[in-house]
Amino acid sequence: MDILGKTTYGEGRKAVNDLFSDGLLFTTLTKVGKRLIQFKNVSKIYPNGTIGLKNINLQIEDGEFVVIVGLSGAGKSTLLRSVNRLIEISEGEISIHGESITKAKGNELYRIRRDIGMIFQNFNLVKRSSVMRNVLSGRVGYHSTLRMILGLFPKQDKELAIEALKRVNLVEKAYVRADQLSGGQQQRVSIARALAQEAKIVLADEPVASLDPLTTKQVMEDLLRINQELNITMIVNLHSIDLAREYATRIIGLKDGEVVFDGPVIEATNDTFTSIYGQDMRKNEMKRAAK
Ligand SMILES: Nc1ncnc2c1ncn2[C@@H]1O[C@H](COP(=O)(O)OP(=O)(O)OP(=O)(O)O)[C@@H](O)[C@H]1O
Ligand SMILES: [Mg+2]
Repeated sequence: MDILGKTTYGEGRKAVNDLFSDGLLFTTLTKVGKRLIQFKNVSKIYPNGTIGLKNINLQIEDGEFVVIVGLSGAGKSTLLRSVNRLIEISEGEISIHGESITKAKGNELYRIRRDIGMIFQNFNLVKRSSVMRNVLSGRVGYHSTLRMILGLFPKQDKELAIEALKRVNLVEKAYVRADQLSGGQQQRVSIARALAQEAKIVLADEPVASLDPLTTKQVMEDLLRINQELNITMIVNLHSIDLAREYATRIIGLKDGEVVFDGPVIEATNDTFTSIYGQDMRKNEMKRAAK
């Protein structure tokens, strides 16, 4: 190192070699490589015999904004909910950051799930509780049951909740009852709840299906912002081709439980959508989008 504290090229290379020789860099690289969601030969057959998913093989990297599209019944919710085991798969394995959630039990399952936030079409808020209480509920996984029954959240949790509300521009609503908020605001509270949870992955199942176009935009922009600013991986089920094109970095098309398209948004052409949705559906969607 010279007197200004700069590392010369030779020294830098030596430092890298040293890291390699004691295995540090290797460990670091493998850890980075593990930060993803992996589906290996995943199938789901519901108890009544309906096939939900058929031999899914996917790998989703950290920080991706994945939109899953497909007709009603294609398996979008089944795929999304199998990530955090809201739905138990019948075959195959899903791992998250290198750990099998499929095989996980007890505390291990609890810990893996803590990294995964979930956003639903109907918001899933406790309507009679304040916005703050709803956001704080994202912290439940970090504390003992007794503490949570008594509602004793530490000060740091309250600070986290306020930070989360600031990110979705709702801090002024912190002490308002959740059911006094508009639909879009309620959905942004559920985004704040996932942020307070310190989720590294957010699964959103039709997050804007019950919202008007303007509110839809606000909610999608919030999801995009937290994806870009906090590097939170997004997996979002959407019905709208238009929204998928606008927000996704990668589109996965499902049909009858199978992946029929998987690629970056620029590769998702009109023909791609026709093959996912069928000719008539795509035309309807295009007409709707043009309005
Ligand atoms: N609990 C269940 N029991 C039996 N079959 C189910 C169950 N849940 C879903 N299915 C079936 O599994 C298939 C995939 O359903 P899924 O809900 O994943 O579709 P989707 O793409 O999310 O549809 P939508 O756009 O309507 O939400 C469908 O044929 C559906 O009828
Ligand atoms: Mg669904």
